[in-house]
Amino acid sequence: MQNISFGYIENELKKVEEQFEKHLITETPLIHKVAEYVISSGGKRIRPILLIVASKLCGYDGDDHISLAAVIEFIHTATLLHDDVVDNAPLRRGKASANTIFGNEAAVLVGDYLFAKSFKVLSDINNIKVIKSYSDATTLMAEGEVKELVKTADIKTCEKDYLDIIIKKTAVLFACASEVGAIIAGKEECAKKLYDYGLNIGIAFQLMDDALDYISDKEFGKFIGNDLKEGKLTLPLIHTIERANQDEKEVITNIIYKKRLASKDLKTVLSLVKSYGSIDYTISKAKDAIKKAKKNLDIFPDSKYKNSLIDIADYIIDRKL
Ligand code: IPE
Ligand code: IPE
Ligand code: MG
Ligand code: MG
Repeated sequence: MQNISFGYIENELKKVEEQFEKHLITETPLIHKVAEYVISSGGKRIRPILLIVASKLCGYDGDDHISLAAVIEFIHTATLLHDDVVDNAPLRRGKASANTIFGNEAAVLVGDYLFAKSFKVLSDINNIKVIKSYSDATTLMAEGEVKELVKTADIKTCEKDYLDIIIKKTAVLFACASEVGAIIAGKEECAKKLYDYGLNIGIAFQLMDDALDYISDKEFGKFIGNDLKEGKLTLPLIHTIERANQDEKEVITNIIYKKRLASKDLKTVLSLVKSYGSIDYTISKAKDAIKKAKKNLDIFPDSKYKNSLIDIADYIIDRKL
């Protein structure tokens, strides 16, 4: 995100960080300890940035966008805490994951706290359309994570199943962040456009994440090959399986079912994935989604806010972490 100019919201982002602290004051220090560990570990804050910029694009000049941006990051943090338990992920943002340091129990329960606190903050803001947007998003996210679990190691998973999973588990929160900016500005007619913008950059974001899971270097802050190790069939692998011959399919299936992944297994799958052009295919799908996302901005007159949303969309394809 370094190349995108957000100077004009720097102050607001600082206020968002202050809200995190405020909402983490409880009588139970472990909540602060675990949540603070994750929240301060260098997340990109892409969802709060989207919400604030979208609200400005729609002419909002109140204060609720600060709390709403804090809530969107709380919800994101809660899903990461839960997701790293589900995925047995040892690393997050280049550091040991919360479950590695504090254990699965603490990670799950503090994730629950962040969800609950988010809806407490939302109820204080008392805008039913906003509450509906957040509750629709979180319900779908939970469904997406469950559907992904059900599809674990299922080699019949197709591109349509995959798309449904990533829309739910990832893209709807990007859509909510963008849409809420328009809702609080009272610009209903812009809300749908910003929802679709957010949804499509969210789809691209997860597509790139799943490509990076095969090809990234250290910068990514997560170990590569974790999806394969966990039996998660993402688009690079789905595209390869659909094209592989019987022998290759057998090799891949055996590796997916393995409890422990040897580095030669990852190499084998990676060379098949590359030979079928499946990484390029995944990236091309992400680029298509970014094009669709940007189309939704056509109704807005040119402004620095619109330019930031265009820059965020482009960044998603170029990101390394
Ligand atoms: C990670 O999201 C989870 C996915 C949807 C792939 P981010 O990459 O936005 O996470 P941070 O907050 O910047 O680390
Ligand atoms: C991220 O899913 C989506 C959510 C956290 C709901 P992944 O499991 O694919 O993301 P990473 O790779 O752990 O960030
Ligand atoms: Mg994960
Ligand atoms: Mg996951």
